[in-house]
Amino acid sequence: MDKLISLCKRRGFIFPGSEIYGGLANSWDYGPLGVELKNNIKKEWWKRFVHQRTDVVGIDAALLMNTKVWEASGHLKNFTDPLVECKKCHERYRADQIDVKRPCPSCGAKDTFTTAKQFNLMLKTFLGPAEEQANTVYFRPETAQSMFVNFKLVTDTMRKKLPFGIAQVGKAFRNEITPGNFIFRTREFEMMEIEYFVKPKAWEEAFNLWLSEMKQWLEHLGVDSAKIHYNEIEEGERAHYSKRTVDIEYDYPFGQKELYGLAYRTDFDLKNHMEKSGQDLQYKDPETNEKLTPHVIEPTWGVDRSVLVAMLEAYREEEAPTAAEHKHKGGEKGDDEDATDTRVVMKFPKWLAPVKVAILPLSKKEELSVIARPLYEQLTKKFVCEYDETQSIGKRYRRQDEIGTPLCVTVDFETGDDQSVTVRDRDTMRQIRVKIAELPSLVEKYFDGAEFASLGNILND
Ligand code: GAP
Repeated sequence: MDKLISLCKRRGFIFPGSEIYGGLANSWDYGPLGVELKNNIKKEWWKRFVHQRTDVVGIDAALLMNTKVWEASGHLKNFTDPLVECKKCHERYRADQIDVKRPCPSCGAKDTFTTAKQFNLMLKTFLGPAEEQANTVYFRPETAQSMFVNFKLVTDTMRKKLPFGIAQVGKAFRNEITPGNFIFRTREFEMMEIEYFVKPKAWEEAFNLWLSEMKQWLEHLGVDSAKIHYNEIEEGERAHYSKRTVDIEYDYPFGQKELYGLAYRTDFDLKNHMEKSGQDLQYKDPETNEKLTPHVIEPTWGVDRSVLVAMLEAYREEEAPTAAEHKHKGGEKGDDEDATDTRVVMKFPKWLAPVKVAILPLSKKEELSVIARPLYEQLTKKFVCEYDETQSIGKRYRRQDEIGTPLCVTVDFETGDDQSVTVRDRDTMRQIRVKIAELPSLVEKYFDGAEFASLGNILND
């Protein structure tokens, strides 16, 4: 984790929040590469589960909702964690995460914990200038409730027939007792959720469908299936609304913990909102005119945990050749001096890489930049690209490896004569020589799924 956190800061993925003021505990800011990575996850998820499906539509709702929503959903009463406090140092812990019979992890005192009391995780604020009870509102702790509250409006406007889902990607807030482990548990985070509405008898079939979709998503994200565990949550341990929950857990460096979740929420939410609001949220079957309250299967994916797991899975330290890798035509002596024997490489799947192509003129000389600059400007219209002409080529390859750029394009001293550039593959470090005119279509082919070796003759095997 320390290596990853340091790479994230050094290379512009994720920074400690408010750092120039000494930080704000457990808050993190996504930097230029982090936002690309995170957006790639959200875009791919939306494409896969909203655009490419005929049975899911999306919404984007407000973060603050009428307090009655949280009364009806049970969050004000039940969205709690058990809290204990050390009477000596006043450090607070989640009672289900520590052994209260052991000394306090913070001050070492024995037998000083209070009995557990339930602590509500809803994050409060006030609307308007008066900070009084009547103006109290809560930031949403899950995106789900806005799908339930808008259920009728979505069915009426979109004419969807059961089974169908409403999807949303957005922020949620929880006043966690013990945030930590980098972006694993924070008080402000993003989630991608689907509320999938079904006829009551069809819940099991839909549950299995979404379990399988979630498995396939993990494969697509590049996660080793051996590190994934499907944990059936027992009655009593489940959230207040759930009749069946499978937690999808991952072997993080700090232990096996939750990554995603899948829950059968029954008709709990719609029923409670109908009761509390007095509105009819039932579904009317257009063929049979039968009225019913749909049941709900809810697959939920944390965005930040997806980023964390994608980075942990992509991170590799490898032996790398030094001089052999950097034989560039007309290259200056000493090009390889800075190349080290080990390289850190982020082996992201192609679609996930924050930067797709790096354009690297071998030197800053104008005869190279007059070719390299326009190439960069052309490619950057379609792909996220970087242009880098500082330091030795070896160092620049290492930087691109560390941020996971799949392709590096080098403009060298023969490019002017043969109108060709060298393209290097991140994972194999193999290189091919291609005509500049063919480069854009070749890059496109590669990101559409073609193998690197199929694009040209390998130079350095
Ligand atoms: N609507 C269901 C729901 O909210 P959850 O398991 O409480 O379920 C959904 O949260 C997902 O959000 C989790 O699977 C996890 O990926 C992510 N998540 C939950 N709490 C988090 C936190 N404090 N920090 C970062 N991600 C969190």
